Amino acid sequence: MITINLNKVDVKVEEGSTILETCKFYSIPIPTLCYHEGLSPGGACRLCIVEVGTPENFKVASSCTYPVREGLVVRTHTKRIIEIRKMLIELLVALCPSSKTIQDLASEYAVTHVRFKPKNKDCVLCGLCVRMCAEQMDAKAIGFVGRGINREITTAFDVKSDVCRTCGACMYICPTCQMRCQGPEPSGVLCNSCLNISYPCVDVHNQVMCYMDPCGACLLKESEEKKKVVSSK
Ligand code: FES
Repeated sequence: MITINLNKVDVKVEEGSTILETCKFYSIPIPTLCYHEGLSPGGACRLCIVEVGTPENFKVASSCTYPVREGLVVRTHTKRIIEIRKMLIELLVALCPSSKTIQDLASEYAVTHVRFKPKNKDCVLCGLCVRMCAEQMDAKAIGFVGRGINREITTAFDVKSDVCRTCGACMYICPTCQMRCQGPEPSGVLCNSCLNISYPCVDVHNQVMCYMDPCGACLLKESEEKKKVVSSK
């Protein structure tokens, strides 16, 4: 076992695990899209980013691919990290607004507007289907082709694959085709109809996530703000 500093607390961690696995073990919620326990990490969506290092000298890293080491300092819910995650979710929503998984993420992370033009694609290139096909189904029937905006997932030479057993595992694991958003037609690209918005109160707790629901400090802040409004009238 080694010791790392996770959100200002020293914790014991199994050597060889990743930051994401550590966070899961300590029940710290980290959003993920391209990660699945049964597959190798892909590091494609970047939603699982955290800050690694001291507040003066840190880097932003994807927690699903970052292995822990003795003395590592990790912050999972700083204001900066939450803002980046929200922007990434905005990009994902714009890319594939009909995905319930992505709409739920948007709702959970209080994404209230999307600054990017909707693309209405069926794929966010997370690569889960490719890894599922290769690692669990041992088929390697699909893979990435092309680069940049032409990158896509398809079979070799875009023809029906001889090794595909039409098992459906790729569709099962896909975050965009497995479940379509059933909410009312969103006026923009955001739905926000399935989940209640719950936003970690980083402002109140000095960049550290709060685990209370409802949070006493937030309620206090809210009532103080209300009092201020009433007295200013
Ligand atoms: S879950 Fe880590 S990069 Fe996608």
